[in-house]
Amino acid sequence: MVDRFGREINYLRVSLTDHCNFRCIYCMPEDGAGFCSKEDTLSFDELRVVLEAAVTAGFTKFRLTGGEPLLAPRLLETISFLRGFKEVQDISLTTNGHLLAEKAQSLKKAGVNRINVSLDTLKPDRFQTIARRGDSTLVWKGIEASLGAGLDPVKINCVAMKGINDDEVVDFARLTLAHPLHVRFIELMPIAWNQDGVTFDDPLLKTGNGLISISRNKPGMLSAVEMKKLSITAAEIQQRIEDAFGPLLPASIPTNGPARTWQIAGSQGTIGFISQISNDLCADCNRLRLTTDGFLRPCLMSDGEADLRSMLRQGAGVRDIAESFRDVISVKPERHYLAEGQLPVTRTMSQIGG
Ligand code: 5AD
Ligand code: SF4
Repeated sequence: MVDRFGREINYLRVSLTDHCNFRCIYCMPEDGAGFCSKEDTLSFDELRVVLEAAVTAGFTKFRLTGGEPLLAPRLLETISFLRGFKEVQDISLTTNGHLLAEKAQSLKKAGVNRINVSLDTLKPDRFQTIARRGDSTLVWKGIEASLGAGLDPVKINCVAMKGINDDEVVDFARLTLAHPLHVRFIELMPIAWNQDGVTFDDPLLKTGNGLISISRNKPGMLSAVEMKKLSITAAEIQQRIEDAFGPLLPASIPTNGPARTWQIAGSQGTIGFISQISNDLCADCNRLRLTTDGFLRPCLMSDGEADLRSMLRQGAGVRDIAESFRDVISVKPERHYLAEGQLPVTRTMSQIGG
């Protein structure tokens, strides 16, 4: 499937639950993100129709995300279901790693090829400041278990924030020397920022038509102004790593997403930078996203969505939903419009599927 801009769209990110056992400060408030009710969530039967439709429409790569996908009750069955299609080439998972140590083997056995684990700090006390729940030593055990289970590649997603964890970028980079780990530094993205205290003339907060609503106040989540202060560029991170280890060498790994990939000379793993805002990754975008409540979203950074759940509940079958996949691909925007001030505000990352 090729969209209007010549991009081949073959990758579906599927949010299996919007629940999470963490409360990362940039993702959701302390008391949760207003989780989807059971009735609003796609049932397993509905999900299977959507996944079969995606395969029918031509999707070959699937990533299961959340929220935290290891909390999804039918996770292993979903993986096996996807594995049943000969067209499916790749199944990956993005997890916060808290339950991973006990599940890595069964994920591999069910058919997961590779895994991304989110980890923003290697310091247990600091972990409490950022994720506010859980235990970073368990996450690290999950990473080790993933390597042991033969998941390949194992990537670490690290959201670098000035004054919070940016002093650890060299420690994260060092992990790639001793382990075949692929560290990805992710730039903070303006997803459902708490807009409390933000003035409307802030150029970052203008939407296409002027103003954004302040009705989505989310106490206990970073505000836009705070996020802006915490942002750190890929160039800055790279400089610190190069100060410690010398010039990074260009590298590549198979199954690479939109990260510029580098390595320290002689390392086992790689280092990448996902700079959705400062770099334009949109030209190579190959994905759509399915939310837990059954909405198909053509772009992470734009709020337009197609309501597959209503279609399913009005009797739509695999063919109809496959047609919707094609329709959504045909309206996929060329790029995000953050620079023009259009922010995605309707959902948190946990609700979209990170
Ligand atoms: N900006 C950047 N990354 C984010 N994530 C969640 N919210 C944001 C945000 N606002 C990350 C998580 C995880 C991945 C799924 O997305 O840390 O690594
Ligand atoms: Fe949970 Fe991931 Fe959001 Fe953190 S970023 S609260 S781990 S969904």
